[in-house]
Amino acid sequence: MLDKRNELNAWDRDHFFHPSTHMGMHARGETPTRVIGGGEGVYITDTNGKKSLDAFAGLYCVNVGYGRQKIADAIAEQAKNLAYYHAYVGHGTEASITLAKMIIDRAPKGMSRVYFGLSGSDANETNIKLVWYYNNILGRPEKKKIISRWRGYHGSGVMTGSLTGLELFHKAFDLPREPIRHTEAPYFFRRPDRSMNEEQFAQYCADKLEEMILAEGPETVAAFIGEPILGTGGIVPPPKTYWQKIQAVLDKYDVLLVADEVVTGFGRLGTMFGSDHYGMKPDLITIAKGLTSAYAPLSGSIVSDKMWRVLVQGSDQLGAIGHGWTYSAHPICAAAGIANLELIDELGIVENAASTGAYFRSELAKAVGDHKHVGEVRGDGLMAAVEFVEDKDDRKFFDPAKKIGPQVASALLERGVIGRAMPQGDILGFAPPLCLTRDEANIVVKAAADAIKSVFSNL
Ligand SMILES: Cc1ncc(COP(=O)(O)O)c(C=O)c1O
Repeated sequence: MLDKRNELNAWDRDHFFHPSTHMGMHARGETPTRVIGGGEGVYITDTNGKKSLDAFAGLYCVNVGYGRQKIADAIAEQAKNLAYYHAYVGHGTEASITLAKMIIDRAPKGMSRVYFGLSGSDANETNIKLVWYYNNILGRPEKKKIISRWRGYHGSGVMTGSLTGLELFHKAFDLPREPIRHTEAPYFFRRPDRSMNEEQFAQYCADKLEEMILAEGPETVAAFIGEPILGTGGIVPPPKTYWQKIQAVLDKYDVLLVADEVVTGFGRLGTMFGSDHYGMKPDLITIAKGLTSAYAPLSGSIVSDKMWRVLVQGSDQLGAIGHGWTYSAHPICAAAGIANLELIDELGIVENAASTGAYFRSELAKAVGDHKHVGEVRGDGLMAAVEFVEDKDDRKFFDPAKKIGPQVASALLERGVIGRAMPQGDILGFAPPLCLTRDEANIVVKAAADAIKSVFSNL
């Protein structure tokens, strides 16, 4: 066993190009390789036998928890009966057609069709293309710009990496590309003028968006994309009335809304979709992670009736749509999606996200909120973040070189709990499986309080 572990370690250093990893440090063995061997409920176990409570559900995706037999059986059954057939030229499988119906049954009102992909990034690529296609069909070839937000996360492709508003994802990749723009992040804690209350800040963000649309020319702005709650950018709920105020600006200039629900779709905020939670009226919705709870890779672009009617009209002019992935609507992934959505209903996972989420956030705030280096504890549903500051009164942030966020995440892991050091700012993020119990929430809160205490007492 030890030999096998050493061998895997060596192969990993020499051959495995890891995403979002410091390449040099990893190849030189300066950062650890952690080989994960199993998972059950909210816990994962590595091949050294160390068990950790995964309070980030992988990458906020294993929503029903690890080790669900029902999904494993559905995948096996589908693989035996029919591992693959494509979805081009009107083909489908019982699994892919059924899943499309199940998604529309759960989606916000006014949604019509699902285009399947494999990742959140490719679903957003599809959305960008659909926005452009839509405006070409409507005879508005100049209406193509897409406005995203600083700190938004929408993927790592060429265009989706451009939509993403985080420095790390642009640096040395020659991103962002045309025709993407970024507007103000709805980040109340970091608002430029601290005298603003939430509604005033929401108005400020909507005014900034309107200024940008006017400066660019409304006839050139096609769409606005946003996560209902900022995720990778820091787990930041929108200030009160934000989405209503943004929606009014979009309606005024005939700009489409793309709700990126890759994280929030299927329950994370305690409602089936974040759009319903915050009263958004999207024209397109991006889904991925929670659709299969990551038991198989599957994503989707949910298209509204309004856009669908135009797209159909377009095919009468343009012929079949020239957009397809080999693995679109892959039957094995669709089977996983059906079993996962059934399980979400059977287990009352969405309701649990609401009630355990509220409990978890309030216990976390009680346990760490008064610490002199905790600037804010925030979140919604089963998403929470603790943001660290050098000085609370002056809202002075730490020098990033001190790596406070990663230090706290490591101290937390030493205590058997996985949280995530968010990539921009000293922010410890939590997004546990939606089946989390109160006892498990207590374990996370205690470990977080101990980890924070230990990092700052050693500073
Ligand atoms: C909101 C959001 N959109 C898109 C993506 C990209 O998804 P993927 O990593 O599956 O390409 C992510 C991934 O974390 C995400 O959080």
